[in-house]
Amino acid sequence: MIIINQMKRILITYLSIVFATFATANICEAQTKPIVVSDAKIKALIKKMTLEEKIGMLHANAKFSSAGVKRLGIPQLMSDDGPLGVREEVRSDWSPAGLTTDSATFFPNGSAVAATWNPALANRFGVALGEETRARHKDVMLAPGINITRTPLNGRTYEYYSEDPYLNAQLVVAAIKGIQTQGVAACVKHYAVNNQETERRKVNAVVDERTLQEIYLPAFKAAITKGGAWTIMTAYNKFRGVYCAENEYLLNNILRKQWGFQGVVMSDWGGTHSSVNSAKNGLDVEMGTDKPYDDYYFAKPLLDSVKMGFVSEKLIDEKVYHILWLMYHTNMNAGKPAGSINTPAHSKVAYDIASEAIVLLKNDKNLLPLNTSRIKSLAVIGDNATQVFHKGGIGAGVKARYEVTNLQGLKNRFGNKVDIEFAQGYKPDFKQSYTDEKKEEANKPNAEMIAQAVALAKTKDAAIVFIGGNRDYESEGHDRTTLALPFGEQQLVDAVSAVNPNTIVVMVGGAPYDLNAIKNNNHTVVWQWYNGAEEGNALADVLSGKVNPSGKMPFTFPAKLDDSPAHALHTFPYDNLTADYKEGLLVGYRWFDTKNIEPLYPFGYGLSYTNYNYTSAVTNKTAYRQGEKIMVTVTVKNNGKYSGKEVVQLYVAKPNSKVMRPEKELKAFAKVWVVAGKQATVTIPVNVSDLAFFNDKTMKWEVEKGEYKLLVAASSKDIRQTKAITIN
Ligand code: BGC
Repeated sequence: MIIINQMKRILITYLSIVFATFATANICEAQTKPIVVSDAKIKALIKKMTLEEKIGMLHANAKFSSAGVKRLGIPQLMSDDGPLGVREEVRSDWSPAGLTTDSATFFPNGSAVAATWNPALANRFGVALGEETRARHKDVMLAPGINITRTPLNGRTYEYYSEDPYLNAQLVVAAIKGIQTQGVAACVKHYAVNNQETERRKVNAVVDERTLQEIYLPAFKAAITKGGAWTIMTAYNKFRGVYCAENEYLLNNILRKQWGFQGVVMSDWGGTHSSVNSAKNGLDVEMGTDKPYDDYYFAKPLLDSVKMGFVSEKLIDEKVYHILWLMYHTNMNAGKPAGSINTPAHSKVAYDIASEAIVLLKNDKNLLPLNTSRIKSLAVIGDNATQVFHKGGIGAGVKARYEVTNLQGLKNRFGNKVDIEFAQGYKPDFKQSYTDEKKEEANKPNAEMIAQAVALAKTKDAAIVFIGGNRDYESEGHDRTTLALPFGEQQLVDAVSAVNPNTIVVMVGGAPYDLNAIKNNNHTVVWQWYNGAEEGNALADVLSGKVNPSGKMPFTFPAKLDDSPAHALHTFPYDNLTADYKEGLLVGYRWFDTKNIEPLYPFGYGLSYTNYNYTSAVTNKTAYRQGEKIMVTVTVKNNGKYSGKEVVQLYVAKPNSKVMRPEKELKAFAKVWVVAGKQATVTIPVNVSDLAFFNDKTMKWEVEKGEYKLLVAASSKDIRQTKAITIN
């Protein structure tokens, strides 16, 4: 007995070690050759430069570059968007340059990456994106975009990651480390509190200090202090009345002094508003779009400001120092890799992310995975089955070398076994410039197309209806005005479901939509993202059961818009151009759980073809001190026929706190592979320091003593095991 117990303990310790490192496993961060940046060398170079040459480096000289100094061997600094793949080359007016050499791999969108809850995948995404950026001779990748999902309507929700600062931090740190292995700087954006597109260049975001520190900054902080990002992009908006590009508190105090940022602060395109203030308050490089480059705030006006003594040359030297420091990590790093683009390996990365991102929302009739001995014919319906999603979204568009559409993926996987026919069902038509009447008109159902779809659906064993948004409808530059499904899609779903009892709804989107009717009336619902070049293949593999879905929602779906905090409190989009973040800490599930509001789909939600039992949660101790790690071990049993990956989520609650706390907060997670019928033991570490709240009186993080509850969960609303611990 004693020996058995001892063996058990040894096994548990071993498993703990194995699983404790799960989340960070395979995170590739090392350059093949370590980069040595010589302070003396940089200073010597600066000494040789004229003031004009220095100023030349501080502002754009084309859409995506700033000048070097040729005579001193300093190259231009080349940047490029974007989060979904390296953007195509543009002309001076932003229209495509029309080259044949600038296609790239289209990777799944940000919220898709977040839905994988898999930092190792985010890291592979980063490496692949870095390789493509390097191969295109760019030094700065303007990604990842990591702003928090404050409102489900934000047009860039699909580009960003999630509503949770911890989840964002884990994923973006992994992505940044990956990008930078290639001698390419990640540029985290948009710093900070940039949570809407409506009047994004004017709106003033007003956020209390604790909320800033606990919700809006953690992913940025992690990006700099843990991810080591070499560049950061300021946001368009004002923060507490001051534009982010000249915000002393955000740039000089927090970013440089507190986080020790050594790299380059660049403005968003056209997001600079002054020469002297921006220079003094922390901006290094002004990027932009319009007006002659010599007229930029950081061009002639800054030169004049130095000459007139408003800005010291020493300050200019500091900025040039940051740029040269960055260059020694990127274009002036002789050991940088060569990069590669459009490779099969990159397609595999896109596929792996896509297949782990897809979320199974409902499967009540166990229609999925599709049984092809029963389902011999499929009606594939809906424009999103044939639509491509690489283009659009302004900054985040990619000229994809290829994109396997959803229909093509189904044909690739089922083609020879199943008879597949397509009907378009609806016609998407959206431009932000349309009048309200025209937008309303485009949202009306198309009776003729619906009739064709219904006729087709009647003749097939099952119907798959592809609906959702697209890259014009969800985009930078505007927020959505409603959660409602566009283009008459609801009517299409209803009509097809009425005639074919085996109707599967596949929703394509990057942000929450109103799925109330579908959740109530349909038995089979799958969430597909703007899921990259391999999206069709990944979806078909999920529908066929080759891949067991393991994606989990990275944001809460409200049952109605007014249930969401910013909308419930009428602080979106703004009052008098001020967005007052009155909900404070209660963003996303923090709001819904604390206020007891039932969401349509909770944060962290997602089904699988199997089901998992969580048992025997234990902690390695019951009481902890500052600086320690809490090890939470739980056994996950796979009760079904399908092996799969489960995301074990660990939320923490602080009963009787002396300060207001959200009902619970995500503090750790791990994605584990569990073989059908077997179980896996997972140990999840939580730093005691991560239980801290930000004390806005002392301006310090503080871990309260006393009891905490650790909630081991399958989603924010599905708590499976609870353990109490004490902090002494
Ligand atoms: C976007 C940035 C983007 C930049 C350059 C801006 O409009 O906000 O995210 O990197 O354009 O395309």
